[in-house]
Amino acid sequence: GRGAAMVTAVAHRLAAQRQCIDATLAPFLLPLGILREVMDKMRAELEYGLKRETQANATVKMLPTYVCGTPDGTEKGKFLALDLGGTNFRVLLVKIKSGRRRSVQMYNKIFAIPLEIMQGTGEELFDHIVQCIADFLEYMGIKGARLPLGFTFSFPCRQASIDKGTLVGWTKGFKATDCEGEDVVDMLREAIKRRNEFDLDIVAVVNDTVGTMMTCGYEDPNCEIGLIAGTGSNVCYMEDMKNIEIVEGNEGKMCINTEWGAFGDNGCIDNIRTKYDKEVDEGSLNPGKQRYEKMTSGMYLGEIVRQILIELTKQGLLFRGHISESLRKRGIFETKFLSQIESDRLALLQVRRILQQLGLDSTCDDSIIVKEVCGVVSRRAARLCGAGLAAIVEKKRENQGVGRLQITVGVDGTLYKLHPHFSRVLRETVKELAPQCDVTFMLSEDGSGKGAALITAVAKRLHNVGQK
Ligand code: GLC
Repeated sequence: GRGAAMVTAVAHRLAAQRQCIDATLAPFLLPLGILREVMDKMRAELEYGLKRETQANATVKMLPTYVCGTPDGTEKGKFLALDLGGTNFRVLLVKIKSGRRRSVQMYNKIFAIPLEIMQGTGEELFDHIVQCIADFLEYMGIKGARLPLGFTFSFPCRQASIDKGTLVGWTKGFKATDCEGEDVVDMLREAIKRRNEFDLDIVAVVNDTVGTMMTCGYEDPNCEIGLIAGTGSNVCYMEDMKNIEIVEGNEGKMCINTEWGAFGDNGCIDNIRTKYDKEVDEGSLNPGKQRYEKMTSGMYLGEIVRQILIELTKQGLLFRGHISESLRKRGIFETKFLSQIESDRLALLQVRRILQQLGLDSTCDDSIIVKEVCGVVSRRAARLCGAGLAAIVEKKRENQGVGRLQITVGVDGTLYKLHPHFSRVLRETVKELAPQCDVTFMLSEDGSGKGAALITAVAKRLHNVGQK
């Protein structure tokens, strides 16, 4: 009768809807074969970055850091650390004790960096930083101390020594003028001079990946890789000096900041980039740049999700076909919302409540679809990141010429730490793609602060740098 006909009609409509959603999300499901290709391409790009003839044009820049060893426990003293480029800007005082009562004590203060300063002039940015340092020194009562300082600056820097770093280009949310091609340590020193209120001994400029590796290396000497999966995505690792063609010397190892976020900027992974990835890229502060980062890091995943939701809404599959003002707003889905939406402990009603907070009125069906979209996007991110990491551990295994490699990766970043599935999927992927490597993942406790202080301590001991 009629009832049965209606049921069939509804069933047909649902099946058709399902097909449309599946078709939209299909390009995000990367089969293992494709991931293996990504891993091989990453491996090739790592080599280009290390070789003298190819490095100038390499997209994965493989920047030498002049950090040549992990800490050995003899580090001690009081240090200042700055942390610029993550979720927050912080100034820290780090006290390291050596010997049997080895310990690290930290005091820190978080400061906001207003958008107009992140994207204003370089002078304004560095003046603001020095203002924050002044506040902190005042607050801690150590203004006259002239402590050695480690500057965690989480952007690509070309270094010629541990205390020099020329900014290659801004990434993530920063775009201050007149900084690219300049030495960030000089810019900081000049801003301190301009203020003329206190003096600091700037000893090291450090990428956050390197700080993370060093912090974990303090506990586990097998830690020779540092991974950040947060606002941005990047890896560093200890490379044999003989493979780093642009640095003199063949003995020992040096830490390389890969800047793998730029992987794909030459088009080599265009086959897996979707139209949503392209839209996110074009709407970003640095179009065409950091293409892999834009598929794998917290700053962009929410944007990819938003682009897909817009498309599904246009197709009439979501939000009753109505694209609301909120959905049009760039940046509404922060990592923390994705993490909440994807949490398995959350009932659908709570997902709807979160969407409500974001200004999105959803039906129950909508919330199921939104959750599915978030899942597909973050899973792809974790698998791509895993493919990259598999390339790194395989390279280390070959470097060491061993059948099996035991290695520890120090990890930090909001995506890794807060997302309910990212870290597991990442680990599973590495295991699948690099089965001959036993990889231990070690969460770093504040690598940007502690790590910078440890590097500063080692640098003071080894080179006696700074003191200018
Ligand atoms: C961006 C930066 C890189 C940093 C990463 C994680 O990729 O270019 O230097 O390590 O973000 O913060």
